[in-house]
Amino acid sequence: MLLSLLHRLPPVLRALLAQGLAFAGVLLLARLGLRLPGIVWVLLQAVGAVFLSRALALEVRWIVLQAALPFLARALWGLAVPGWVYLVLFVALALVFGGGLLTRVPLYHASRDAWAKLEGLLPDRPGFAFVDLGCGFGGPVAHLARVRPDGRFTGIEASPLTWLVAWLRCLPLPNASIRLGSLWRAELAAFDVAYAFLSPVPMAALWAKVRRELKPGSRFISHSFEVPGETPQRTIPVAGRDGARLLVWEL
Ligand SMILES: C[S@@+](CC[C@H](N)C(=O)[O-])C[C@H]1O[C@@H](n2cnc3c(N)ncnc32)[C@H](O)[C@@H]1O
Repeated sequence: MLLSLLHRLPPVLRALLAQGLAFAGVLLLARLGLRLPGIVWVLLQAVGAVFLSRALALEVRWIVLQAALPFLARALWGLAVPGWVYLVLFVALALVFGGGLLTRVPLYHASRDAWAKLEGLLPDRPGFAFVDLGCGFGGPVAHLARVRPDGRFTGIEASPLTWLVAWLRCLPLPNASIRLGSLWRAELAAFDVAYAFLSPVPMAALWAKVRRELKPGSRFISHSFEVPGETPQRTIPVAGRDGARLLVWEL
C-alpha cells in the first residue's frame, strides 16, 4: 500500500528518497561502530540507493544515475570548484525546471511509444496543423514533423532554456516551429489537433480553453491527465510510467 503510494511520486522525489534512506542506513552502520575505508562507505551508499531505487520502480537511467551520484559527490568533495560554477548550474537548472514550480507542471517526456501512437491520431489529409501545448524539449513535435512532412507542427514552451533546446532540435525541420511563451496566450483556432502533457492542475482550465477555441471537428489529446468530469472518446495505453495513456476527445 505504502509502496504503491510512493510509486506515484515524481521520479526526482523517489530518487531523493532512495539516496536519503540509503544514507540513513550508512549512518546507522557507522553509529553502530563499523569501521570501513571511505570508498567502501561510498560503495555501500551506491548499492543501497540502487536497491531502494529498484524497489521504488525508478527507470534504468535513473538507477544508473543513482549508482554514480555517491561517487560523483565524493570526487567533488573538497575540490576547489569556483563559486560561479554553482551559480551557473543553479541558473541553468532554474531556467529549465523553475517554470514547473510556478506552473506546477514539471518537465518530463512522453515515451517513443507515445510519439508513435500520436502518429495514428493525426488527420489523413495533408496541410493539417498540430500543436504541443508545453512542448518540453520538443520530442513529439520533432518526431511527428519528420514522419508527416505533409503537416505543420508547432510547439509552445514557457521555460526559456527548454524552449531553446526544442527550437534547436526543430531548426532543420521546415514544417516545425517552436514558440517561446505561455500556452494560455496561444490562440488554438488555427489547429486541427491540440496535444498536452501537463499535470492534473491546469486540466479544467485547459479544457475550457479547448472548448472555447478549437474548431468543431478538431481533436484534443491529453497525455495521461484526465479532464475532471469529461469522459474521453478513446483511451490509448502507452509505454512509460504507470497508467500512461493518451486520452482523446473529438470536438
Ligand atoms: C510534462 S512536459 C511535456 C513535454 C512534451 N509535451 C512531451 O509530451 O514529451 C510539460 C512542459 O510544459 C511546459 N509548460 C508548463 N506550463 C506551461 C505554460 N503555461 N505554457 C507553456 N509551457 C508550459 C513545461 O515547462 C514543460 O516543459
